[in-house]
Amino acid sequence: MSAAERRIETVRVELGARAYDILIGDGLIGAAGREIAARLPGARAAIVTDENVAARHAAALAASLEAAGIAATTITVAPGEKSKSFSMLEEVVDAVLAARLERGDAVIALGGGVVGDLAGFVAGIVRRGMRFVQMPTSLLAQVDSSVGGKTGINSPRGKNLVGVFQQPALVLADTGALDTLPVREFRAGYAEVAKYGLIDRPDFFAWLEANWREVFDGGPARAHAIAESCRAKAAVVARDEYETGDRALLNLGHTFGHALEAATAYDSARLVHGEGVAIGMALAHRFSARLNLASPDDADRVEAHLAAVGLPISTGEIPGELPGPERMLDYIAQDKKVARGALTFILTRGIGRAFIAKDVASSEVLAFLRTAMLPSGAG
Ligand code: GLY
Repeated sequence: MSAAERRIETVRVELGARAYDILIGDGLIGAAGREIAARLPGARAAIVTDENVAARHAAALAASLEAAGIAATTITVAPGEKSKSFSMLEEVVDAVLAARLERGDAVIALGGGVVGDLAGFVAGIVRRGMRFVQMPTSLLAQVDSSVGGKTGINSPRGKNLVGVFQQPALVLADTGALDTLPVREFRAGYAEVAKYGLIDRPDFFAWLEANWREVFDGGPARAHAIAESCRAKAAVVARDEYETGDRALLNLGHTFGHALEAATAYDSARLVHGEGVAIGMALAHRFSARLNLASPDDADRVEAHLAAVGLPISTGEIPGELPGPERMLDYIAQDKKVARGALTFILTRGIGRAFIAKDVASSEVLAFLRTAMLPSGAG
C-alpha cells in the first residue's frame, strides 16, 4: 500500500440496507477498480464523464477498472449545466442500453455536479434502477452533490425539477483531482464547506477560520475539511433522507443564493452557485441579527471569514446591474413555497445554530433587502 493510499478516510452514510461508504484521499481514481470490484463483484460499468474531466482522468479510471477485471464503456457529455437536459438524458440512457448493461451493473459518474446529477438519474431509471458510483472531481461535488442521493436534470421551468433520489453504492472522492481546479471554482466549493460549520458544527467553523489557507494549499488539511463536510452531510441525510425535515438545513444561504443566481440569469461570468451561497449565508446571518435572533457579531464573523478566503459577501460585489429588492423578493418567492405571505428560511441563533424558520413574513424580507442591497451592502 502506498503512502497516499494510507491517508484514505472513510465516512459511512448510515441508511440501513442502502448504507454506503465515502472514501476520501489522494489517488482514488487509480484505486477505483479495486474498490468497486470489492463492493460490486462481477459488475460491468458505464463511465459517464464530461469532455474536460475525460481528458484528465478517464484513461486512468478505465485502466484501473480493466486491471480489476471490470469491463467498461465510456460515455462523454459536453461540460456545463446544459447537459442536465432531457435530450442528454435520452442520449446517455441509450448509450447505457446499447452497451447491454444490466440492473446489477454500475453507472460511474466521473466529474462535477452536472455529471453526478445526470448519471445518477440515468442509474435511477434504466432498468428501474442500476448500481451507481459517484467519483466527484470538483470540491463542490466532493462535499455536497455526490453525497445524499439527489439526482436529476433541469426543466425549462427551473433547475433540478425532474429527478429521483438514487443513493450511490460508493463515493470515491480523489482529492488529487482538485489540484487542477481553477481557484474560483475551488473557492465556490469552499462556501459549502463553511456552510457545514455554520449549520451545526461551530468547532469546525473555528477550525476553518484558523486553517483555511492549508485547506486551499492541499494536503491533509484539505482532506480533513472534505471528510468533515461529508460527515456533516451524511449525518443530516441519515436522519432525513427525503427532506421532510432537517435536510432543509443544508439550504442555509441557498434561498438568497438561488434568487441571485436566477437574477443573474445563471451567467457564470457574473456569479457561480457557491458565490451565491456565500452571499446568501452572509445575508442569512445579517437577517437573523436584524430579527434579533442572533448577535450582529456572528454576522460580522461570517462575513470576515468568507471575505478572507476571497468569496463575495454582498450583492454589490456582483458585476452588472441587479434587479431591485421587490423583484428579488419575487425570485425568492418563486424558489420557495409562500404560505399566506410567509416564507420558509434557514435562519440562525448564532454560529453553528441554524434552524428552519417556517413563518418569515415577506414584508420582513423586503424591508431587510431594502437595507442589505444598498450599494454599500450595509444593513
Ligand atoms: N444539496 C442539498 C441536499 O443535498 O439536500
